[in-house]
Amino acid sequence: MHQHILKLYNSAKKQQRLIIGLMSGTSLDGLDVALCQISGQGMETQIAVLAFETVDYDDDYKQKIKKVFAKRECDLELVTLLHPWVGALHGKMVNQCLAKWNIAADDIDAIASHGQTIYHCPNSQHSHADFNHGTLQIGDSDHVAVTTGITTIGDFRQKHIAAGGEGAPLAVYGDYLFFTSADENRILLNMGGIANLTYLPRSADASAVFSSDIGPGNTIMDAYIQRYFAPLHYDKDSQVAAQGTVNQALLTALCDNEFFSLAFPKTTGPEVFNLQYLARAQAATNTTELSHHDIMATLNRFSAQVIANAINDCSAKLDNVAVYASGGGIHNPLLMQHILSLCPQLQTINNTQSLGIDPDAKEAVLFAILANECLAGGQQRFGNQAQGIPTITMGKVSFAD
Ligand SMILES: Nc1ncnc2c1ncn2[C@@H]1O[C@H](COP(=O)(O)OP(=O)(O)O)[C@@H](O)[C@H]1O
Ligand SMILES: [Mg+2]
Repeated sequence: MHQHILKLYNSAKKQQRLIIGLMSGTSLDGLDVALCQISGQGMETQIAVLAFETVDYDDDYKQKIKKVFAKRECDLELVTLLHPWVGALHGKMVNQCLAKWNIAADDIDAIASHGQTIYHCPNSQHSHADFNHGTLQIGDSDHVAVTTGITTIGDFRQKHIAAGGEGAPLAVYGDYLFFTSADENRILLNMGGIANLTYLPRSADASAVFSSDIGPGNTIMDAYIQRYFAPLHYDKDSQVAAQGTVNQALLTALCDNEFFSLAFPKTTGPEVFNLQYLARAQAATNTTELSHHDIMATLNRFSAQVIANAINDCSAKLDNVAVYASGGGIHNPLLMQHILSLCPQLQTINNTQSLGIDPDAKEAVLFAILANECLAGGQQRFGNQAQGIPTITMGKVSFAD
């Protein structure tokens, strides 16, 4: 047997595995690297996050990716060159973390690599009758594997689309395995560039569970700050938005998009929610002269409004719903305050730390769970196909040589 297949086989048989989850979202802030000790599989999965780090991207990375990011037209040569370059860079970032944590690559069973999304295109977003859903992540997992010497599982989103999904969100499986409770209905809310949620009824009825994108989390706010407050990358602690006043006409226009009336589950991205989207809403409401602070205040409220609407839709007929938040949006105090004020049924919005997972690490951990299922999962299928959400745990397996 080939040594890599043998190692994979041995990893699959272990009671406990060390798996590194990698996540690089649409915010382009950095690569989330979560070292997870995972035992068991399926509903018996136990996880300890042994180490976590967001390795910040430098300006060079951001500028290179932005040339192709969420753009309908771009330089195909550059996309082709970025694919291996990002993979190798992510591999180097893992190596840096391992050196810092004093862990040998040999001790790691697998890396779960998400890659860098550069375009997401569900069929609700395009008008090509011949095509269904598509999504594109660069950062080839073969390069991650060769650079680190660690077997790498990647291309999860491609598998999700091949199985009939939209390629996102992929949180549903890990959320279901790890966060389902018999005591309370839960909403797991993640606020990255795009916000998404997973609904987990306390019945643990898999057919009622779903995960869906909601709309913008930080993406338009980040784009605005990067355009008008460079070199800032985001509105730290809502300092800019907090100085402005919400413009109601602009807010109403921003909320007026057919995506918001589509039923769950659905997906979207910065291909839709971007500065052009804002400019159209401003033009339609004669608000092009608003101050930067008022626009940021309105964008902040816009994200909060769509997130709160989604929470309220999910929890309309339920008593006892608890929301557990994760992702960079939890660090935006005004956003959190707005969401809470728009969800009167909630006393508070928790974060996933109270369930034992660092909210900044959560998405990377979910990919580690998918890799664990890929290695060791049984035949148990998570059956909410009725809602059109396929369950995927298998990605592309890349070996170190
Ligand atoms: N202190 C903070 N104040 C306001 N926003 C923050 C703060 N820290 C992080 N964020 C927001 O979180 C984003 C990163 O969130 P993240 O969950 O990593 O998203 P993604 O998965 O899209 O990369 C940043 O771009 C920023 O908008
Ligand atoms: Mg991020």
